[in-house]
Parts: sequence; structure tokens; C-alpha cells
Amino acid sequence: MKMIVTGGAGFIGSNFIFHMLDKHPSYELICVDKLTYAGNLETLAPVMDDPRFKFSKTDIADRKAIYALFEEEKPDVVVNFAAESHVDRSIENPSVFLETNVMGTQVLLDACRIFGIQRYHQVSTDEVYGDLPLDRPDLFFTEQTPIHTSSPYSASKASADLLCNAYHRTYGMPITISRCSNNYGPYQFPEKLIPLMIANALADKNLPVYGQGLNVRDWLYVEDHCSAIDLILEKGKEGLVYNIGGHNEMRNIDIVRLICDALHKPESLITYVTDRKGHDMRYAIDPSFIHSELGWLPETKFADGIKKTIQWYLDNTTWWGNIVNGEYQDYYERMYGNR
Ligand code: NAD
Ligand code: TYD
Repeated sequence: MKMIVTGGAGFIGSNFIFHMLDKHPSYELICVDKLTYAGNLETLAPVMDDPRFKFSKTDIADRKAIYALFEEEKPDVVVNFAAESHVDRSIENPSVFLETNVMGTQVLLDACRIFGIQRYHQVSTDEVYGDLPLDRPDLFFTEQTPIHTSSPYSASKASADLLCNAYHRTYGMPITISRCSNNYGPYQFPEKLIPLMIANALADKNLPVYGQGLNVRDWLYVEDHCSAIDLILEKGKEGLVYNIGGHNEMRNIDIVRLICDALHKPESLITYVTDRKGHDMRYAIDPSFIHSELGWLPETKFADGIKKTIQWYLDNTTWWGNIVNGEYQDYYERMYGNR
């Protein structure tokens, strides 16, 4: 089995590569990554010398390069994690989100159509469903919830999903899609809520909470997301969407307080800042379909996962220190300077 994993130098893709090499000793994996600001080869250092692993610095939207790679490697399976993934950046500059998330997906789908494939899996997000109101805790996203996007990021991910459906229906391609809730765990880029708050708290910097911090996200430990995709690749039905989540809804402010508490930092570091434009209120996945169809259940409880995650950031200060001390500082100043 030869598998292309795009975006494997990022947060979830790298965790997926570690998971697959560990669980499937006979698989060959090729990581295709453009190494944007979010891609980090240091993350993949533990597998770089593994004979079952190869890295290719390639843009998924570069048709010529992608076709050449498919011609040479003849992959059996493609799992597409590659994306611009940060909502705030999509508000600042939507174009690159369309180039990578939409056009890049189309190039991969065309390559699969031309060179043949056993399975193409699109890693999507619950954000394609838009948001739920805070006063309706009885509502959840199911696979039947209409697509109703809020941000340029979610609009680009939804567009890619629609292309996948079209290629399945029109060309009969073997495609599956998964839509997961917010992930947390090792190797998450420190622009995202949990690692940003850990890094800032450790440096005794302000903890910038958007609005009143009442927005709700449904958090899943990254390894559980990886195990769900692994299962969908093995047993999932072509043409179907699988929602992935573990019923772990939390308000942002409660997450930030928990991080302060775990790191013995004062809550006075919390600073309420101008809200994100178009800020989605609540995400909540109904995971009953993947549970009943494939038997998937998450293994990591939030209390354990967040402890492991905080410990990982404490043990790997060089990994994220290299990031926050580099060009990330310009981003931070742009995003939070006058907020
Ligand atoms: P990330 O930003 O950490 O990593 C993205 C990776 O894609 C980086 O390594 C980057 O270099 C690479 N990349 C970007 N543009 C590329 C291009 N044009 N060609 C090749 N590589 C490119 O993102 P993540 O959090 O690991 O998310 C991975 C996927 O999972 C994304 O598709 C995202 O939409 C989806 N997702 C993320 C979450 C979450 O909570 N993080 C939840 C659900 C779904
Ligand atoms: P984020 O990690 O960017 O994920 P997403 O927007 O895709 O859900 O943000 C999670 C939540 O945390 C979201 O409601 C925005 C909020 N947030 C803050 O309050 N402050 C911050 O500095 C960041 C990055 C996010």
C-alpha cells in the first residue's frame, strides 16, 4: 500500500503519519507538503530516515509537479490534509485559501482521475456547517446538516467538499470525506487557541480572548482524529461523509482558565480583545453515524488529552520557541497589536 499524505508537515498530517507508520508496518508513505509558514520539517525528523517514508516539497496546486509525482509514485491512496487552516488569516487574505484549499484539491482529484486510485480521502471540517446558536444545546451537526459557511476558510473547505462529491458522482471516483471538530494535541501551530494560550501564559504575556470568550468549540484529541481517518480508509463507504467528534463542548474562556490553572498562572493575564469578524458561536458534532457504521469511538478524555498536550508543550519548548521567535512575531503584531 502506497499512500500520499498531503500537508503532512503540519499539525494533524504529521500526527497521522506517525499513527500510520506505527499501525501499518507494511505501508509506504509519501508526504507532499509545500512547507508554508505552518509546515515544519523538524516535526517529521523522527521518520525522515524510515525507509517506508519519503518527503516531497510540492505545492498541491502545482499541476505539473503533482502529475509528475503521481506518474512516478503511482500511489494507491491519497489523504488530503494540505490546506490553509487558520480562520483569522482567511479573514485577512482569502485568496491563498482558494488557491490551496479549492484549486489544490481539484488538482489532486484530477491526478487521481488520470492516474487511477483506490481511494481519495478529503480531510474536511465541521466548520462547513456554519454555527449553532448557544441557546439550543439540543442541536448538533449531522452529515445531513446543510452547508452554510461563515468564513473564507470554511467557504473554501466547503467548496473542496462539493468538488469531491462532484468527482464521485460524475467520474465514479472512490472518494470519502470526513468532517472533524476542533483538534488539539502535540505539534499544533501556536496561532491556534490552545497552543497560543499555553505559549503566552508560559511567557507571562496577555491571553487574548475574543469577544466575551463564550463561543463554544467541540475539542477532540488529534490521535482520535487520526484513528477515525484510518478506519474510514479501511472500512468507509465511497461517496459518504463521516462526521468526527467526541461530544466535548467547551467555552473558550473555560479552556483559557484551565490552562492558567494547569500552569499556575494568574487569570489576570486574560485580556478580552475585539471579537473575530463573523465569529461562529458554537460547533457541536453528532458522531453517531461513524460510531454505528464503523464502530469508531474516541479514546482520549479531554482531562487526559489536555494534560498530555500541556506537558508536550512544556517538554518541547524548542519546537514552538523556534516558531514564535521567527516571522510569527510579525503575524502576532499584525493580529493582536492594536486589538
Ligand atoms: P496546519 O495548518 O497545521 O497544516 C497544514 C499543512 O499543509 C502545512 O504543513 C502546510 O505547509 C501544508 N500546506 C499548505 N498549503 C499547501 C499547499 N498548497 N501544498 C502543499 N502543502 C500545503 O493544519 P492542520 O490543523 O493540521 O489541518 C490539517 C487539515 O485538517 C486541514 O485540511 C484542515 O482544514 C483540517 N481540519 C483541521 C482541524 C483543526 O482543528 N486543526 C479540524 C478539522 C479539520
Ligand atoms: P481557533 O483555534 O482559531 O480555531 P477555530 O476558529 O477554527 O475554531 O480558535 C478557537 C476559538 O478560540 C475560536 O472561537 C476563536 C477563539 N480564539 C480566541 O479567543 N483568541 C485567540 O487568540 C485565538 C487564536 C482564538
